[in-house]
Amino acid sequence: MTDALVEIRDLTKTFGRGARRAGPAVDGLSLDVSPGGIFGLLGPNGSGKTTTLRMLFGLVRPDAGSIRVLGRPVPQHLWEVAPQMGALIDGPRLLPNMTGRRNLELLAAIRSIAPNRIDEVLELVALAHRAGDQVRTYSHGMRQRLALAAAILGRPRLLVLDEPSNGLDPAGMSQMRAFITQLAQQGDVTVVLSSHLLSEVEQVCDRVAILNQGRLVSSGPLKEILSSAASGPWVRVRCEDPVRAAAILTAFGCTVEGVAGGIRVAGSDQREVLSRLLDGGLTVQGVSEDQRTLEEAFLTATGEST
Ligand SMILES: Nc1ncnc2c1ncn2[C@@H]1O[C@H](COP(=O)(O)OP(=O)(O)O)[C@@H](O)[C@H]1O
Ligand SMILES: [Mg+2]
Repeated sequence: MTDALVEIRDLTKTFGRGARRAGPAVDGLSLDVSPGGIFGLLGPNGSGKTTTLRMLFGLVRPDAGSIRVLGRPVPQHLWEVAPQMGALIDGPRLLPNMTGRRNLELLAAIRSIAPNRIDEVLELVALAHRAGDQVRTYSHGMRQRLALAAAILGRPRLLVLDEPSNGLDPAGMSQMRAFITQLAQQGDVTVVLSSHLLSEVEQVCDRVAILNQGRLVSSGPLKEILSSAASGPWVRVRCEDPVRAAAILTAFGCTVEGVAGGIRVAGSDQREVLSRLLDGGLTVQGVSEDQRTLEEAFLTATGEST
């Protein structure tokens, strides 16, 4: 037993039969989501994110492996934990000819949720002013926000958002990110968010698992994933003569890459880099730690870099 909110062990799922059988969509995946914060499931299209998340809700049956949510085996005991789970998977399922408020009222009635919660969630996703309009008059972004409101209506302990900003324009994406961050900060909820967008995961998640072809390639706190370059942390150097700087540091066995305004160096620390360059007679304008972007970490992890 662990205190993980979600515990996935050796999970495998292959779609299709016989000649139509494809490679596994999820392939021996093990993963723990501990309580609190925002957990990112990052991977390119087709890497198995949606399939994994659907299995948490019993929407896809695993071939092998096990899942526990809030300590209960799923799908066997889903009925016990489902009231504490909220989801935005496969796009919003809303009734277009009803108002936004009516959609939420129906859900609240089915799930015995106090009606005053409806105003709270409408406020939270900034839809209160349009709650009386039919959903078919809503923009895609507004529908997505209403779907988020529906997902959090029952104050879930686990909120699963599958590519929540898909199809949104940049303003809509940033608004969605703000809502999600706000939710995670104020409530007793753990968010699991999937995305193929590195920038999104980088901006909202505190820990991340990277999937590729149904397999886990890397997981951990965002900071660690960002700094775990194969060759250690990088040092960024701003200097006037990057070519000479590169030559000096390469001679000491460092790995050097050219970047705008200077170079980035692996295989040494800031003090050593600085002293070698100064010894070499170079004018150095700045030396700082250089965090890899998740994009770089992602490419390294999925083996798609050079
Ligand atoms: N219902 C399905 N039937 C057949 N193949 C599927 C089905 N759902 C997903 N797949 C396949 O499984 C793989 C993983 O898909 P998916 O989980 O949707 O990935 P992601 O969400 O990361 O884009 C893909 O190759 C996809 O084509
Ligand atoms: Mg998907």
